[in-house]
Amino acid sequence: MIFDSHAHYDSEQFDADRDELLGSILPQKGVCGIIQMSADFASLEQTVALCEKYDYVYGAVGIHPECAADLPENWLQKVESLLAHPKIVAVGEIGLDYYWEDACPRERQREVFLQQLELAEKHNLPVSIHDREAHGDMMDILRQYQPRGVVHCFSGSVEMARETIRLGLYIGLGGVVTFKNARHSVEVAAEIPLDRLLTETDAPYLAPVPFRGKRCDSTMIPYDAARIAEARGITAGEVLQAGCENACRLFGISPEAIAQK
Ligand code: NI
Repeated sequence: MIFDSHAHYDSEQFDADRDELLGSILPQKGVCGIIQMSADFASLEQTVALCEKYDYVYGAVGIHPECAADLPENWLQKVESLLAHPKIVAVGEIGLDYYWEDACPRERQREVFLQQLELAEKHNLPVSIHDREAHGDMMDILRQYQPRGVVHCFSGSVEMARETIRLGLYIGLGGVVTFKNARHSVEVAAEIPLDRLLTETDAPYLAPVPFRGKRCDSTMIPYDAARIAEARGITAGEVLQAGCENACRLFGISPEAIAQK
């Protein structure tokens, strides 16, 4: 059983075969749950549509830091209005991205991130957090706001992972653990408690070795699981099972609902 806790199936890279993938190929290959992430304003509704179409797809609504520059005035009300939907289980993808700060200035990223953290707290929902080259500011915010949720595609040190865990958060690991230069990620994979690990892709991005550079989808997660398992001295099956159980716990999804899929 494969649970993909972070994917972008609304991406145009899936336009040609989205229905074939989500409707048959992924479930046939053992994908039992997906959290579809919003990124820009248009993807909020696209996320809801995907959740409504496929039983095993759940959604997160929120604005990615790269997409926070030019939002309609009512963006936050729009996000909030979708939180009542029964298949929307989180606020995401939200966070800070200092690598792409040309796309949106840091101050604006921070403002949009904090407004969404407050929204998640108000509705008692977990968050899916993006942190790229913003570790210092991110940890300050996490210490102050103490949200419930996951830092996805975790790229910090083992020390930062320990503090993230102490703050009660989960850690999402995907294709990057299979990359040759991913020493940090492998150390983190070996170190964190198994009950705080989420399996994920960030599809269509970050395909694992041997697919690096190609379009990623959720069926590639066993390659990440094998690398994580090797680092921990357990089996890939145990990693996949933990990924499934942990995602159900964090996002409030009934494991029975997933098992029947
Ligand atoms: Ni993402």
